[in-house]
Amino acid sequence: MTAPILEATGVVKQYGKFMALGGVDLRVMPGTVHSVIGPNGAGKTTLFHMLTGTRSVTSGRIVFDGADVTGETDYQRVQRGIARSFQVTSLFPSLPVRENLRLAALGTAPRRAMNCWRRPVGDLACDDTVDKVLARLELQRVADTAAAALSHGQQRRLEVGMALAARPRAIFLDEPTSGMGVDDLGAMKRLIRGLAEDHTVVLIEHNMDIVMDISDTITVMQQGKVLMEGPPDMVRGDPRVRAAYLGNMITGGQR
Ligand SMILES: Nc1ncnc2c1ncn2[C@@H]1O[C@H](COP(=O)(O)OP(=O)(O)O)[C@@H](O)[C@H]1O
Ligand SMILES: [Mg+2]
Repeated sequence: MTAPILEATGVVKQYGKFMALGGVDLRVMPGTVHSVIGPNGAGKTTLFHMLTGTRSVTSGRIVFDGADVTGETDYQRVQRGIARSFQVTSLFPSLPVRENLRLAALGTAPRRAMNCWRRPVGDLACDDTVDKVLARLELQRVADTAAAALSHGQQRRLEVGMALAARPRAIFLDEPTSGMGVDDLGAMKRLIRGLAEDHTVVLIEHNMDIVMDISDTITVMQQGKVLMEGPPDMVRGDPRVRAAYLGNMITGGQR
């Protein structure tokens, strides 16, 4: 049997007296898209903070690829292959798309930094990475355009690309389609599904059509706890999930 790449056990997070996570268990299998859904305030983003090391746990244990990373910083976890998508605000607006990705690629390969900056760089791995990521993002045509001049949807894909350029093993995306128009949803959906070919994807997403279409496993959270977990078909039909959303989000989609 395959071992999980990421395993969280009994994760508790308290903000003062408020318990944002009340003992969460999560097992993410390698090479899957594992989505975390639930109503606003359920603790999804807090769980991501715990898994990526953005914030520390109050108690509990997080194991990534066999190593206990509970006490590690976000930077240490990046070294292990955990990446989180950046917000639009952390793109370099005046730099071309390609340079944004190049900088992100340098993030986890500091010893290669000199090679990456020296031109011409020929077929060095850094350029390879940037080209592959550009293709994945469907942004080749705008590779030399400043990030600030991209459409909103293109910027959101570039955010995912910034995480991808670091060549992570597991990539965490927190609502990558938020604020996106329908025209851009298809490209983002293809991008995320494609990532699972050579990464593990952990996804927080409110768009239920996307979640149901591309997830292998869905964990439903409510009030800081896991309500249920299963494949899309099981989650879609579960009365507890419908109740958690007051019936409107899961059933309100096109199918
Ligand atoms: N830094 C913080 N301090 C205090 N409470 C917080 C903090 N961050 C989040 N919370 C609270 O924790 C709960 C879960 O928040 P969050 O993880 O952002 O939920 P979700 O992403 O599912 O919408 C919410 O009630 C939120 O108000
Ligand atoms: Mg959130």
